[in-house]
Amino acid sequence: NTRVLTGITTSGTPHLGNYAGAIRPSIQASTQPGVDAFYFMADYHALIKCDDPQRVARSRLEIAATWIAAGLDTDKVTFYRQSDLPEIPELCWILTCVTAKGLMNRAHAYKASVDQNVARQADPDDGINMGLFSYPILMAADILLFNAHKVPVGRDQIQHLEMTRDIASRFNHLYGHGTDFFVLPEVQIDEEVATLPGLDGRKMSKSYDNTIPLFEGGAKALRSAVMRIVTDSREPGEPKDAEGSHLYALYRAFATPAESGAFRLQLEQGLGWGDAKAMLCERIEQEIGPMRDRYAELMAHPERIEDILQAGAEKARRLATPFMAVLREAVGLRSSA
Ligand code: TYM
Repeated sequence: NTRVLTGITTSGTPHLGNYAGAIRPSIQASTQPGVDAFYFMADYHALIKCDDPQRVARSRLEIAATWIAAGLDTDKVTFYRQSDLPEIPELCWILTCVTAKGLMNRAHAYKASVDQNVARQADPDDGINMGLFSYPILMAADILLFNAHKVPVGRDQIQHLEMTRDIASRFNHLYGHGTDFFVLPEVQIDEEVATLPGLDGRKMSKSYDNTIPLFEGGAKALRSAVMRIVTDSREPGEPKDAEGSHLYALYRAFATPAESGAFRLQLEQGLGWGDAKAMLCERIEQEIGPMRDRYAELMAHPERIEDILQAGAEKARRLATPFMAVLREAVGLRSSA
């Protein structure tokens, strides 16, 4: 069977980028025959950038509820919270010891923080914790612990997957002696939505404050966010440049190719931005509207989500615990299997 795995960091409210880039494709993948799916709330990752305990807990609930409301079958997939698996930080340490520091120096997220510091003439390491520096190793542990073959993610995660493959090869080379412990995972990217733009046209991201919330705030919040999408100043009646507009990119992520083609034609024939926004809203609402009640219902019953996550962690550990024993023995630590 093919193993598919992905995680979402629990430091914010799920937005359309998370949905189109990770949640929707992961649910789709989990329904394919011959697929074993592993999906989780990356709450250890959240601690790197969020020191508000309530935020982390709330975000975890929101993300879990979103996944389930969007149609995830939690009996079929293995659905869990990263921090319920002590094997993950344990493997992370072992991988840390085979990872070259130079490899981590090249990680985009870390480098971006250094560059920002340099640009404002501060100490290059200002405000950077070791979690941020080692972030890709924790992610490698998430993936390699389950020997995932495919990882559905948005484009911003490609480098992390490359690093995971590097780390896995290094471990196989050092300790494998002919048998490979780790599978080298592949990214699974839907080019249409690999980088969903936000309100201002940059990648939709919590850190840019340009997100469109998926369920939080209801249809009203969705509508008011869509109305704030930045467009050019062309008036109704003037032809619009569909390809150059991120409103069109957002529409494409929620429509069939035929619908997108028709929308594009309307824009080129002078559809006003206000009407275009109303159409976009309607298109998104058609897809996610029916999920909203389910989401609210789940958010009102955190204990149900907790039960699901506990059961998921148990299921995950049935694989993780014995595999960890094998890995421990491979590197010369005591095997406790
Ligand atoms: P995170 O929490 O930043 O994002 C979760 C997922 O959403 C995707 N995404 C987007 N896709 C398209 N357009 C966007 N604007 C957009 N914004 C976010 C991300 O690519 C991601 O797939 N490190 C990961 C979480 C993680 C993980 C893992 C993922 C931890 N361990 C193991 C896969 C496998 C992260 O912070 O994603």
